[in-house]
Amino acid sequence: MEVIIRPDANAAARLAARLIARAVEVKPELVLGLATGRTMERVYDELAALHERSRLDFSRCTTFNLDEYIGLPRTSPYSYHAYMQRHLFNRVNFSPARTHLPDGMAADLDAECRHYEQLIRDAGGIDLQLLGIGSDGHIGFNEPLSALRSRTRQKALTPSTLAANAPYCGGDVTQMPRRAITMGVGTILEARHCLMLVTGASKADILARAVEGPITAMVTATALQLHPHCQVIVDEEAAVSLQGKAYYRWIFENEPEWAPYRAAQA
Ligand code: GLP
Repeated sequence: MEVIIRPDANAAARLAARLIARAVEVKPELVLGLATGRTMERVYDELAALHERSRLDFSRCTTFNLDEYIGLPRTSPYSYHAYMQRHLFNRVNFSPARTHLPDGMAADLDAECRHYEQLIRDAGGIDLQLLGIGSDGHIGFNEPLSALRSRTRQKALTPSTLAANAPYCGGDVTQMPRRAITMGVGTILEARHCLMLVTGASKADILARAVEGPITAMVTATALQLHPHCQVIVDEEAAVSLQGKAYYRWIFENEPEWAPYRAAQA
C-alpha cells in the first residue's frame, strides 16, 4: 500500500483523476470500478474536464459500480444509478451498454448478486477500482463484520451509515433504504489496482485505523492492506492522525513512479 498526501481535497481528487486518465490512456478497454459519495464528485468533475479539454476517451471502457440501494428505482434521484448519470455518465462518453450497477429492484436479489459477479468475470475482472471510505470504515457498503472474503451480496446498513448518507437521500433517515447490494470485500480485492481517495478532517481517525491499524472485519477498508497494488490518496486534513506522514511524503517526492505527477500538482 502507498499513501500519498496532497495539500487539499481538490489536489487529491485531481491526482486520483489523473491516475484514472493515465490508466485509460494506457488501456482504452479499461475495466473501471466506480464509487459514489461526496468525495468522488470532485474526481468526476476532473474526469469530465479532462474529457472536454483533452478528449480523454472512455468509449471503449467498461464500468462496474460498487453498490446500489435496495428498493430504490433507478429513476429515484437518490439512487446510485442517478448519481452516476448526474456526476459522470452524462458528462463523458462511456458506452451505456458497458456501464453497470447492481439492480436494487431485481425480483430475485440473490440472483442479481450472482449475475453481477458473473458480469465482472466476463469482462475479464476489474483493472482499476476507485474507492472511498465510509465513516465506519466501510468500502462499498461492506459494513463492520463483513467477511473479508465476501462476494457481491445484500447487506443491511448500520445506523451510522444511514445517518451519514441521509442528507443525500432527502434528509429523512426513516425514509432511507436500509439495505444495499454491494460488491464484497473479496470482489474488491480481486481488482488489479485499488485507488482509495479520502479527504476531510471527519475521515482522519477512520483513515488512520484503515491504513495503519490492524486488519479487522470491523473496518473493512483494512483489508486493502492485503492488496498488492493499492494507492491511497488523501488530503492534509484527512492525514492528521497518520503516524507515517514523513515517509509517505518522501515517497511522493522521490519515487520515480510519481515524477510525472509531481510537477503538475499544486
Ligand atoms: C457510501 C458509499 C461508499 C462511499 C461512502 C463515503 O456509503 N457506499 O462507497 O465510500 O459513501 O461517502 P462520502 O464520500 O460521501 O463520505
